[in-house]
Amino acid sequence: MNILVTGGAGYIGSHTLVELLAAGHGAVCVDDLSNSSEEAVILAGKIAGKDIPFYKADIRDRSALDKIFTENHIDCVIHFAGFKAVGESMIKPWEYYENNLMGTLTLTDVMRRHGCKRLIFSSTSTVYGDPEILPIREDAPKGNCANAYARTKWFQEEILRDLCGADLRNGDPDPWGIVILRYFNPIGAHPSGLIGEDPRGIPNGLMPYITQVAVGRLEKLTVFGSDYDTPDGTGIRDYIHVCDLASGHVAVLSALKAGSVIDYNLGTGRGYTVLEIVRAFEAANGIEIPYVFGPRRPGDIAAYWSDPSKIDHELGWKAEKGLEDMCRDSWNWQKKNPKGYGR
Ligand code: NAD
Ligand code: UFG
Repeated sequence: MNILVTGGAGYIGSHTLVELLAAGHGAVCVDDLSNSSEEAVILAGKIAGKDIPFYKADIRDRSALDKIFTENHIDCVIHFAGFKAVGESMIKPWEYYENNLMGTLTLTDVMRRHGCKRLIFSSTSTVYGDPEILPIREDAPKGNCANAYARTKWFQEEILRDLCGADLRNGDPDPWGIVILRYFNPIGAHPSGLIGEDPRGIPNGLMPYITQVAVGRLEKLTVFGSDYDTPDGTGIRDYIHVCDLASGHVAVLSALKAGSVIDYNLGTGRGYTVLEIVRAFEAANGIEIPYVFGPRRPGDIAAYWSDPSKIDHELGWKAEKGLEDMCRDSWNWQKKNPKGYGR
């Protein structure tokens, strides 16, 4: 297949470009570089041994998207482009709704005008809100989101379901075929150390914070909360290696079926506490990570992890890399690129 990857210069997008090309697919990338560097696309192509056509454009720019679909035959779109910072979304909700919703509306309109109605959409486990039952299955309640970012993802999911539903009601001979992927916590980097996560400013995420402490850019980690109802009092998440997450996108290409919207969790099914992550990082890399306990971070949920069995049963795909791989590869990327892509 020839696949348009929106947001392909970003953390997950760049790793997905590598996996798509390794699996024999073609890829075209569009990104406005608002949170990334073109270097990531060039390096992804280098890892895969292929050039990746790159368009620097905002997906809300209809004529720029039209040009891409006119110049390339696109079978399917993997849609990563959007804003993703939880805290920022509560300060600038309008910007988050505008970029994420208008991006998806413009993209899907241009797609249907060019007869391309196969889409894989990046959603998030945070659409499940504070789960009543663990592990979280795809049929768990959704939409009770704790922040504006997660709500934009939930609304985008609903828009996509409406588009497909309308095609079926209208008897459209070529209805939308959509896969929604809900990511748990991606960490790690490509084992080459050429591409990885490069957050702007002080990282919000646990692993990039730890690697920046390890490389000396930050002094110590603050563990947010030590009094949760978990074995050691710190928050539990389901961390998944970004290369596994990327390969999950290749696996679901076969699940894109006309007239269906299918959702899958992408996680490992195993939760780790913050302190377990710190210890695993120290053990994998032989580096001590100084930390202090701080108050709980507003909006954080104590514990959640996935039931990843639906995608395994239906498509025979599951995450393969363990926590040691995630810690080693995160550090390998950071130590080789202390300043990330140097943006
Ligand atoms: P990222 O910020 O590294 O990548 C997103 C990319 O989209 C960036 O390169 C950015 O420049 C680009 N972009 C943003 N708005 C754009 C626009 N209007 N037009 C063109 N390009 C635009 O983020 P990521 O971690 O790679 O996440 C990828 C997707 O997965 C996002 O949609 C994110 O919400 C979702 N997601 C991420 C996580 C996570 O923990 N990283 C978890 C769940 C879901
Ligand atoms: N944490 C710390 N100190 C830090 C950073 C994080 O103790 O400096 C803790 C958090 O309190 C939490 C755990 O580490 O218990 C993980 O926090 P992250 O910020 O790495 O990840 P979140 O689970 O909060 O959220 C992330 C992304 C969301 C995404 C979600 C699910 O920020 O965008 O994973 O994929 F939706």
